[in-house]
Amino acid sequence: TRLISTHRTLTSPRLVNQNINSARTLNFSTTSSNMVKVLAVLYKGGQAAQEEPRLLGTIENSLGISDWLKKEGHEFIVTDDKEGPNSEFQKHIADAEILVTTPFHPGYLTADLIEKAKNLKLCVTAGVGSDHIDLNAANKKNITVAEVSGSNVVSVAEHVVMSILLLVRNFVPAHEQIIADDWNVAQIARNAYDLEGKVVGTVGCGRIGYRVLERLQGFNCKELLWFDYTDLPEDKKKAEFKRVEKLEDMLAKCDVVTINCPLHEKTKGLFNDELISKMKKGAWLVNTARGAICDRNAVKKALESGHLNGYAGDVWDVQPSPKNHPWRHAFNTLGGGNGMVPHYSGTTLDAQARYANGAKDIIQRYLAGKEQEPANLIVIDGDYASKAYGQREKKATGQKPAGP
Ligand code: NAI
Repeated sequence: TRLISTHRTLTSPRLVNQNINSARTLNFSTTSSNMVKVLAVLYKGGQAAQEEPRLLGTIENSLGISDWLKKEGHEFIVTDDKEGPNSEFQKHIADAEILVTTPFHPGYLTADLIEKAKNLKLCVTAGVGSDHIDLNAANKKNITVAEVSGSNVVSVAEHVVMSILLLVRNFVPAHEQIIADDWNVAQIARNAYDLEGKVVGTVGCGRIGYRVLERLQGFNCKELLWFDYTDLPEDKKKAEFKRVEKLEDMLAKCDVVTINCPLHEKTKGLFNDELISKMKKGAWLVNTARGAICDRNAVKKALESGHLNGYAGDVWDVQPSPKNHPWRHAFNTLGGGNGMVPHYSGTTLDAQARYANGAKDIIQRYLAGKEQEPANLIVIDGDYASKAYGQREKKATGQKPAGP
């Protein structure tokens, strides 16, 4: 059995077995007869990951499960090389039994790759959001997909509140003045507002959307609205959180819209020219859910025309985002309104500890033949176990309670 870590920059064979922390390839022998091949696609942490062992989502620190899998006698391949037919991901998916991926550096498991994945039984998302896996194709092949539900929902909700504030208060251009040794209060204040008295609405009121509304309660907003096809459980309902039945009706009222639903067939490209035109003129849009829920060109156009006053978030329709992605340089009519960052809201050090533990638990249960936590299951036994990935006709096996 081997434990191998690979990444794109491995060129020198001299690295092999020199030092566990800097080596990318390690070989171990074992006599285990129940060996399972586990493939993990994680992001490269480089120097940061070597200096900070709590960066568990990186190839270098490999979710903290390398030693455990090695001791159990399993094969563990870790890579960040995920694009194209010659990538480590596509090479090893052919015979891996367990695939571990993360939404932050997604290994896109397409229907074609699922077809090639002859031994694949379990896909574990280290984090929340499994749209990078073709879930319908996984169902056809009876592959289980599980994610670490709840692991980073607080992390994202905090990021959403921060993003709302930085757009409404025009923070980014103000800060840029300072580092440019500039000082022009009027230029900033002409587009700076208070959040108090504004209408905020969330598209999707599950774990994250609900927590965003909870965190906004202290800001004395005029209204806190939500749109979701799933109702809130009775004990979570609050008079201050108002459900709106039609998405367009909510958008017409909102000064700020925050998107907190998964990416699936019905939400892909949802915020296109037409839907954005239903938003209030001058509204702010925050998307920490998935980049592809918003049409990249529609967002840029709406900022440039003044229909949107700002767009912020950490998710992109392709990750890593290409250098020429329109959202890197999409600005409102005053040259501000861009609160984009790389995908990190759900990968704070606190979140990484939770999703690394959760991913280990899912693998452990699989290896021990134990049931998975129902809340973690997205698809199993050829059907959706989660109600969050779209409304669909389904067998009566649904287990995952949507909602907070
Ligand atoms: P959740 O499953 O608790 O809630 C999702 C809610 O969205 C459900 O109530 C569902 O009914 C609703 N929904 C689905 N389709 C909808 C639609 N068309 N319109 C309105 N509502 C719809 O999920 P959770 O934990 O709140 O996460 C939501 C999403 O946030 C994840 O699927 C993921 O894409 C994203 N996320 C992003 C992270 C980041 O780092 N940026 C980290 C974690 C999650």
